[in-house]
Amino acid sequence: MTNQTTPSTKQTIATPRPVASSAQNGPQEAAPATQTAPAPQPLAQRVNNRSHRPTNQAFRDFIASGWGPRPDALPERAESAQWAQQRRARLGALFPGERLVIPAGPLVTRNNDCDYRFRPFSAFAHLAGTGTDFEPDAVLVLEPLTVPGAVLAAGEPTHETVLYFRPRASRGSEEFYADPRYGELWVGVRPSIEEVESLTGIRCAHIDTLPDALAKDAGPDAVHLRVMAQADPAVTALVTAVRQAAGLLDATEESQASATALDEALAEAASELRLRKDQWEVDQLQAAVDATKAGFDDLIRSIPRAKGHWRGERVLEGAFGAKAREEGNGLGYETIAAAGNHANTLHWICNDGPVRPGEMVLVDAGVEVDSLYTADVTRTIPVDGRFTEPQRRIYQAVLDAADASFAKAATPGCRFRDLHAAAMEVLAARLEEWGMLPQGVTAADSLAADGQFHRRWMVHGTSHHLGLDVHDCAQARREMSMDTLLLPGMVFTIEPGLYFREDDLLVPQELRGMAVRVEDDVVIRPDGRPEYLTAGIPRRPDEVEAWVSGLIAAES
Ligand code: GLY
Ligand code: MN
Ligand code: MN
Repeated sequence: MTNQTTPSTKQTIATPRPVASSAQNGPQEAAPATQTAPAPQPLAQRVNNRSHRPTNQAFRDFIASGWGPRPDALPERAESAQWAQQRRARLGALFPGERLVIPAGPLVTRNNDCDYRFRPFSAFAHLAGTGTDFEPDAVLVLEPLTVPGAVLAAGEPTHETVLYFRPRASRGSEEFYADPRYGELWVGVRPSIEEVESLTGIRCAHIDTLPDALAKDAGPDAVHLRVMAQADPAVTALVTAVRQAAGLLDATEESQASATALDEALAEAASELRLRKDQWEVDQLQAAVDATKAGFDDLIRSIPRAKGHWRGERVLEGAFGAKAREEGNGLGYETIAAAGNHANTLHWICNDGPVRPGEMVLVDAGVEVDSLYTADVTRTIPVDGRFTEPQRRIYQAVLDAADASFAKAATPGCRFRDLHAAAMEVLAARLEEWGMLPQGVTAADSLAADGQFHRRWMVHGTSHHLGLDVHDCAQARREMSMDTLLLPGMVFTIEPGLYFREDDLLVPQELRGMAVRVEDDVVIRPDGRPEYLTAGIPRRPDEVEAWVSGLIAAES
């Protein structure tokens, strides 16, 4: 990474973020002869001691000059803009008369002056309609157009949206060349106010005006605020300060609890808004699945190399990851590439083991596309291109469970939790058949609430919502998520598995050290039918064998 020359002082909204100044670059300042020993340099500034940047005025004038003009053309309106506008209208309608604050979140420090790659808070991406990299420290504000409780005509807008962000600075500014977090020479050309307005269709304003905008007309008998409190601690602190100053919050426990409740209701509503995807979102999820298929193809092509490598699982992980970066923003979650007994560790993400002939490898991986929607797919792959008989036996049981779950989804009146129940019926029956349930316990006994013995071999759930987050809609109320009827636009996984650890003495010897999960992504179409978004990714044992054998043969 390129050395940086300025401090990575964490920006807060209320306090203008400092850019480099000569005072922060002491080593190149000539010390006056009369000066006594300088005070020790604060630790936080020492991160800049790796290089020297000129600060003389001639240099400043020189670096600000001689650049070509900026392009005149504004970007076209993003396809997502109209959809995001509809989402904001639906959210706003739940909170008429209130100011809603939804931050994109800050850059997160990895260590010293190195940040993680920025990924906006998902609720912000959903409501702003923006994807990759947009835009650290931005804040979306739904500004009330009415008073609370106002009676509105149908379709009458409740809010105007304003998007606050830090537009690019001029080439004459220090930020241009001296700010490693935001400067153009460090992170590229950042957008102007006009460009973002053109792209999003949202009125934009400079982030420095946010504190005043949040405080405007705030008060007990005027405007109340709600903030998506988890997204950006600096913005949450700013809202707290505004509430205190406006008499909306005091130090009593009751007052604090009531503010928290307001904010939690906003997080809940924004999460529930994502339960039913619009057509644009479904298209993005299909694109994520298609890119994931391409990633699995490359991963399979890398199996021969993985088998010859001391950390073959990493070879597989890397092959998928390369495709994820080429085709999308990256991964929707850390890839699991688990060979043999490692597949019995549900969150096996260190992927540092070998891939041995005769084994299966369980791969759980998803590409997150540039709009930040992710796929979530698991395939369990025989690395030699053929399942052994015991491997196939487990695989078929899991596949039958998945098929039962999908068939249930096609049944009118199916609730989300029924997907899991349908899969469990199949697995419990198969485990009974294999003599694995406790003495005298039938599958029916095991399925009862006070049984559940079959869950020893599948401790996770069968389904979760999928979208911008791999476990999407996590703040939705239970009755809106797990207990809901399946509704058009819902996208979820079906992912039963069986996990037989090598040290599990209750598992028949020939099945020990094996695990199978099959995970597909399903959408409920407008007519109520479920459909696999993952239909193009082989999942039946014969298809998987042909897929693996075909791609490996083509490579050799
Ligand atoms: N990859 C995470 C999950 O399947 O839920
Ligand atoms: Mn999943
Ligand atoms: Mn998964």
